[in-house]
Amino acid sequence: MIHKPVLTKEIIQYLKIKKDGTYVDCTFGGGGHSKAILQELGVNGKLYSIDQDPQSIKIGKKIKDSRFKIFLGKFSNIEKILKKEKNRDKIDGILLDLGISSIQLNSSIRGFSFMNDGPLDMRMNPKSGISVSQWLKKTNQKTIEQVIKNFGEEKYAKKISRAIILQIKKKTITSTLELVQIIKKSIPKYDKFKHPATRTFQAFRIYINQEINELHKILKIIINILHSGSKIAIISFHSIEDRIVKNFIKNYSNYPNIPKKLPITELQIRKIKKKIRFIKRIKPNISEIQKNPRARSAILRICEIR
Ligand SMILES: C[S@@+](CC[C@H](N)C(=O)[O-])C[C@H]1O[C@@H](n2cnc3c(N)ncnc32)[C@H](O)[C@@H]1O
Repeated sequence: MIHKPVLTKEIIQYLKIKKDGTYVDCTFGGGGHSKAILQELGVNGKLYSIDQDPQSIKIGKKIKDSRFKIFLGKFSNIEKILKKEKNRDKIDGILLDLGISSIQLNSSIRGFSFMNDGPLDMRMNPKSGISVSQWLKKTNQKTIEQVIKNFGEEKYAKKISRAIILQIKKKTITSTLELVQIIKKSIPKYDKFKHPATRTFQAFRIYINQEINELHKILKIIINILHSGSKIAIISFHSIEDRIVKNFIKNYSNYPNIPKKLPITELQIRKIKKKIRFIKRIKPNISEIQKNPRARSAILRICEIR
């Protein structure tokens, strides 16, 4: 199963790839965006790609190109990952295409999908951390409810968490479709346009992979490792991520509010908070959504370090 990259043309256009520039694709996935960036780079360009999924690394290793390097790891470890790279201080652009790929979603053994039966896992790196099944076994109802509510924005979080705990008292939940059945039975009314398990699966995936923490961490790091003129492209797929990205851009687009009478120069203010310039917010057009329905909830935000 391949992954169709989203908004590729727009990413290339707004990252304004320099022929001899250095770029980091923090979310390699199936490599669609990385390959598009490589096509734009000249012989002296450089692309570093990162993914925490060993399967993506396997795909990346097939790209034989001296301008390209791929690393297994979390993007929040970017500084450590690139420590030995001589271009690490010259990054001209960073791409974050958040969430999971179609490769992960459609592979039933990974446990991300509520449509196919598989082990209830959902780890982007199956060799690290614990699966959703293991976590549910050792946690409590309140935590499950909070996770479903906070990361799934599910109004039936209490009912679902109660049903999960009742089931676990009898038997561990090991498969995705087992969880789907529990959710279906506990929800009094289904949404017309959404599968009843959508929100809970999203919530568990975000929680088990610590996706929100990862996003907060990388945004903080980006501010420090990029230089003036560097571009940042971030694609989010749900409102929780998008809110974080939006607030990040907003917070750094303004100088801090410093009382007028304070004896502080413009230069000193700049040192307090590095500024970002917001460039554009882009959503896929109808034709892209028709070709790739996964694109329908994508929002790309582009900004630049001042
Ligand atoms: C939406 S897909 C990216 C697809 C990619 N842009 C392409 O063109 O194929 C997201 C990828 O990011 C990876 N990922 C998500 N969070 C990560 C993190 N914190 N650190 C490293 N990789 C991460 C996932 O494993 C997944 O492969």
